[in-house]
Amino acid sequence: MFESLFRRNAGGRIACLLLVFAVLFCGCAEKEEQEDSPALLLGFSQLGTESAWRSGNTRDIEEKAAASGVSLMLENANRKQENQIAAIRRFIAYRVDVIAFSPIVEEGWDNVLVEAHEAGIPVILVDREVNTEKKGLISCHIGADFYKEGVMAAEYLIRKADSLGADELRIVEITGTEDSTPMRQRQAGFMDTIEKDGRMVVLESVNGDFLKSRGAECMRYLLEEYGEDIDVVFSHNDEMTLGALPEIENAGYEPGKDMIIISIDGGQEAIDVLRQGKINCVVECTPMLGRELMETAKKLKAGEKVDAKIHPKEGYFSDEMDLRQLAPRGY
Ligand code: AHR
Repeated sequence: MFESLFRRNAGGRIACLLLVFAVLFCGCAEKEEQEDSPALLLGFSQLGTESAWRSGNTRDIEEKAAASGVSLMLENANRKQENQIAAIRRFIAYRVDVIAFSPIVEEGWDNVLVEAHEAGIPVILVDREVNTEKKGLISCHIGADFYKEGVMAAEYLIRKADSLGADELRIVEITGTEDSTPMRQRQAGFMDTIEKDGRMVVLESVNGDFLKSRGAECMRYLLEEYGEDIDVVFSHNDEMTLGALPEIENAGYEPGKDMIIISIDGGQEAIDVLRQGKINCVVECTPMLGRELMETAKKLKAGEKVDAKIHPKEGYFSDEMDLRQLAPRGY
């Protein structure tokens, strides 16, 4: 009986089998396509792990890549430019769709950028910028307006001088990595702004390389050199500030009272210390650049036009504000 049934419906069964095969085959092909050629392959060279800011930036980029279906080739350069150049060359050899990197310093990228350009791979700068005479090597820069951050730090200081009725404020500056974009622009924004105010005197600028240990060393040196003459410490990032504070306390001064402390980044630890009154102002620099990076990379792959510059919106936190309700910073 079954045999005759099968024979009677043979045409229909063959059609069914063909349909099943077709569905299975299409499913496999689609899966293979997803696995073998992901929607977008992004090579990203991170410069290091020197700060909570940097770790927050790496984490955000990894999370946003995963959430938006981007395959991320992430390489960490351990603060060495040659490692970043080697990573970019590997991305080119691998034929990624888009290259992104956070350049540790501004100079020295021309050759590798020309190589990426000749390979037809668009390049996005994340966080920091490069200095190059050559046109058309960079598709977009996504990162903070560091000059404006320096201006905000100086504007706070001018308001503070007004509120204290100060005739003169003697400033020491602990800068970030020499020849890096945030170091150059934060310094320029700060100096250009205080220059117009006759009360501001800069005692010395020293290089703390964005590191907590160097922030402590710099502060020890500055205290030995200038001691109680220091009225203001302007530090280019939270890490160095957090290194400097115990040195100030060990030398017998109260940070936030005997000395005005100004920092940049706005990570959770610095905000907590600001709430304790040991830091007076923290200018915000957000590391959350992952969403813009994924969106821009997708547009570039699709051949769409992108903005040459994308600056996140940033503000500052200070002892002029009630910060009790401030949401967790996430880095
Ligand atoms: O380039 C951004 C700076 O680099 C951040 O201010 C600092 O914390 C980081 O190391």
